[in-house]
Amino acid sequence: MANEIGTRSIGVIMNGVTGRMGTNQHLVRSILAIREQGGVPLGNGETLMPDPVLVGRSEHKLRALSDMGGGLRWTTDLDSALADPSCEVYFDAQTTGRRFESVSKAITAGKNVYCEKPVATSAEQAMELYRLARSAGVKHGVVQDKLWLPGLRKLAALRDMGFFGRILSVRGEFGYWVFEGNTVPAQRPSWNYRKEDDGGIIVDMLCHWRYVLDNLFGTVKAVSCLGATHIPQRWDESGKPYECTADDSAYATFELEGGVIAHFNSSWTVRVRRDDLLTIQVDGTLGSAVAGLRECWCQSAGQTPRPVWNPDIDQPIDFREGWLKVPETQAFDNAFKTQWELFLRHVACGEPFPWNLRTGAAGVQLAELGLRSWEERRWLNVPELPE
Ligand SMILES: NC(=O)c1ccc[n+]([C@@H]2O[C@H](COP(=O)([O-])OP(=O)(O)OC[C@H]3O[C@@H](n4cnc5c(N)ncnc54)[C@H](O)[C@@H]3O)[C@@H](O)[C@H]2O)c1
Repeated sequence: MANEIGTRSIGVIMNGVTGRMGTNQHLVRSILAIREQGGVPLGNGETLMPDPVLVGRSEHKLRALSDMGGGLRWTTDLDSALADPSCEVYFDAQTTGRRFESVSKAITAGKNVYCEKPVATSAEQAMELYRLARSAGVKHGVVQDKLWLPGLRKLAALRDMGFFGRILSVRGEFGYWVFEGNTVPAQRPSWNYRKEDDGGIIVDMLCHWRYVLDNLFGTVKAVSCLGATHIPQRWDESGKPYECTADDSAYATFELEGGVIAHFNSSWTVRVRRDDLLTIQVDGTLGSAVAGLRECWCQSAGQTPRPVWNPDIDQPIDFREGWLKVPETQAFDNAFKTQWELFLRHVACGEPFPWNLRTGAAGVQLAELGLRSWEERRWLNVPELPE
């Protein structure tokens, strides 16, 4: 009893909670999981318990989610939720084009804001949100989930140990086959393939590659990007064919501060013959590593085989044998949940949270420059955003 200070409830408005990300990653795997574990410990004996208010358009979907969570509060009226002083946090996982207006409103209502990426449809609007939040004095954050994937945590640990020596290059392969929707159901929403609905893989994935590269390997200084719409027609959620107006593949090269060269292929039109849906290979003078979502394999300089080019004989080296799995040295929780806990602690006790609206804007900026580089067929420098 002596160290039991108590549980503090924190209201969290969750807008866009009926969507794929809103339901699966943010409600079920993050907020409900945090509730089930008894809240977020604040380190002083106190526990923070998120109390969500589900916001959306569809009453029956909201009611079903509310029931699933054991009777959570819900409403179709965002303004009434924003007027509720028990709600200290506004979270947004709506489609990207709706974010600017809703997040601005939440900031004006004095809420701390946390939102999905891309933060907005232009870097200018994303920076506007950052300025608004700063002048309102509210706390703010953007989802940068890949940083908490076990595979990427292991890469970061190898880097911190000096395993790589001098890092030379980083190569990312992201993608899988997204079905067109006429025979096998598509695994992603149809708006992803329509430019007029803010879709496109460059906008989607370059936001991720920005924070991954900036945080792990060096600030992105320049970009060259080629996009493509390989599949011109798909079938939507109601089975109707539609024209794909947005890019479904991106081939992007980045120059990083410190001289590292990074290249990422991102595609919804490739079939997977690699260890995972995302693999990131890091090559350095003293060692290399390949991370998937959860696992990471490494090869040091001393383990490196000496291949000799000879297509006239069967390959004598089993290249996969020369890699060691990086051991599990800690338990990893869901990446979205981990970041949620950090954000809630940031709001409740002011713990540092560098993954803010400015870094979210940097992601949008890189996506914008990627699109422009494709259009103008040239390298573009990435200017530093104002503090
Ligand atoms: N962090 C990640 O890895 C990741 C992955 C996928 C998507 N996302 C981002 O998450 C966001 C949502 O993506 P999703 O795949 O869940 O999309 P989705 O289409 O499944 O969900 C979109 C949500 O927005 C709501 N919405 C759409 N139009 C609306 C309108 N006119 N009025 C009110 N609400 C409306 C929908 O009801 C739904 O709740 C996007 O911004 C996307 O870029 C992030």
